[in-house]
Amino acid sequence: MNPSNKKKDAAMAVEIGGLKLKNPVMTASGTFGYGEEYADYVDLNQLGAIVVKGLSLKPRLGNPPPRIMETAGGMLNAVGLQNVGVDVFIKEKLPFLRQYDVAVIANIYGESTLEYSQVAKKLSQAEGVHALEVNVSCPNVKKGGLSFGSDPKAAAEVTRRVKAETHLPVIVKLTPNVTDIAAIAQSVEEAGADAVSLINTLTGMSIDLKTRTPHLKNITGGLSGPAIKPVALRMVWQVAQKVAIPVIGIGGILTAEDALEFMIAGAKAVQIGTANFINPRATIEIIDGIRHYLQNNKIKNINDIVGTLRT
Ligand SMILES: Cc1cc2nc3c(=O)[nH]c(=O)nc-3n(C[C@H](O)[C@H](O)[C@H](O)COP(=O)(O)O)c2cc1C
Repeated sequence: MNPSNKKKDAAMAVEIGGLKLKNPVMTASGTFGYGEEYADYVDLNQLGAIVVKGLSLKPRLGNPPPRIMETAGGMLNAVGLQNVGVDVFIKEKLPFLRQYDVAVIANIYGESTLEYSQVAKKLSQAEGVHALEVNVSCPNVKKGGLSFGSDPKAAAEVTRRVKAETHLPVIVKLTPNVTDIAAIAQSVEEAGADAVSLINTLTGMSIDLKTRTPHLKNITGGLSGPAIKPVALRMVWQVAQKVAIPVIGIGGILTAEDALEFMIAGAKAVQIGTANFINPRATIEIIDGIRHYLQNNKIKNINDIVGTLRT
């Protein structure tokens, strides 16, 4: 690499809870498979990080179809956390990812705090996982299905249990389906989270007028895509003011301009989700776009724009 390239790349580097990333652009869980699915379209080495599909202790088939529905400016999904399970991930998916020079973040979930901690332990012992992202949007079976992420105490408890099992940085991924997301963020920060990422999908639904039945078999699903961007941006801004740990912005990011809005609102990094379905090279185009923005505006380092919103 020639020195000017090195300088250029240093300007894009960020650090999340001790994890050094080449640039602030990651994939969002559930929209990029286990990385391999996109390797023909994207040079995975260029990504800030790959966040893999949510992993549970045992493999899961997810919900019955139809489970995807396009909506105005977005999509509803009720995939239901389908995945190969943590053991198959470690045995069959991780070796592929180890060939690349890219941070791998394993997204995890469980139906109990015990399951979260068991999945966390297995991944922490595996070679090639660099951080854990804890999806607290999952229903807490013990609490009648209320999600862990909608209760500050339950979210903190999951965070503590996962932290106790791992040496890896722990990112807690917050659900927007709450009244006060900043209060949940503060609670997981106190419990030891190294970073928070937000937002997960917003609960929604859609109806077929002819049959008067829901389009999704599950009735409700999670809304994602450009339609949720203003809500996500507002929540990132609110959370960034209340916590000292890094915030990762997610929700409807399609372009470098969208990503930069999140960073100005206080996000140190961003994740790209639904955009990958529209344009499989969205992540790379966003990385290039951020680099050009820095150059065109003579900004020396990407970190210099984080949280610079003028109000
Ligand atoms: C089909 C699909 C599957 C998803 N699966 C997961 C998952 O397994 N774990 C998780 O934490 N988030 C999951 N998400 C949520 C995304 O990671 C992201 O938070 C959300 O879609 C908002 O970002 P976007 O508007 O850029 O898509 C999923 C989203 C979609 C659309």
